Amino acid sequence: MKKRLDDRSARHDKFHQQAKREGFLARAVYKLEEIDDKFGLFKPGQRVLDLGCAPGSWLQYARTKVGDKGVLVGLDRAPLEHQPSSTRIVVGDVHTIDLAVLKGDNEAFDVVLSDMAPDTSGIRSADQARSEALFERALEIACAVLAPGGNFVGKLFMGPEFKALTEAVRARFTTGKTAKPASSRQISIEQYVVGMGFKK
Ligand SMILES: C[S@@+](CC[C@H](N)C(=O)[O-])C[C@H]1O[C@@H](n2cnc3c(N)ncnc32)[C@H](O)[C@@H]1O
Repeated sequence: MKKRLDDRSARHDKFHQQAKREGFLARAVYKLEEIDDKFGLFKPGQRVLDLGCAPGSWLQYARTKVGDKGVLVGLDRAPLEHQPSSTRIVVGDVHTIDLAVLKGDNEAFDVVLSDMAPDTSGIRSADQARSEALFERALEIACAVLAPGGNFVGKLFMGPEFKALTEAVRARFTTGKTAKPASSRQISIEQYVVGMGFKK
């Protein structure tokens, strides 16, 4: 019964409805839009890597910002139902993926995004630990593939490692900030950590 109510409230959620109206594949797009409005993540022509990209709304948004000349690469362990045009999709697990496959032509990326979330178990400490591992890996990949001055956004559940992981971002970027977009459900323990200006 609880699940049915949750499903119904998700369908009536204003961001879900807005995404449907505006042709975006997920309500998550408004989280990225809000973070971008605040920090200015993208420039036309840039190369963007999106970790945990399915169903694809962050890729749709990134395309509107980097334009036709921009390069988008998305990774997810699940195949995408809707293949975005002119975008390279890699199916694989972030923990085991070969970075050479992500880089492809070996050029660095300007922006690395991670909206990766673990399959939640309902056991808070276990879910936090899995989210921390995904975030840590996303940051490791960002530090390996970003060009100097590049930007990073990573989803992270609030938990015991939150401060240490935020500090790890501050150590590698000129600025490191956290964000909780309005479209992120208040009940959710997710936050986004934003690193601007990668220091190679
Ligand atoms: C919240 S969704 C991302 C939504 C996406 N930003 C969008 O706008 O459409 C989280 C994604 O992370 C992916 N994911 C979780 N763990 C992963 C892993 N170990 N490797 C690759 N992808 C992973 C899931 O398959 C899921 O598609």
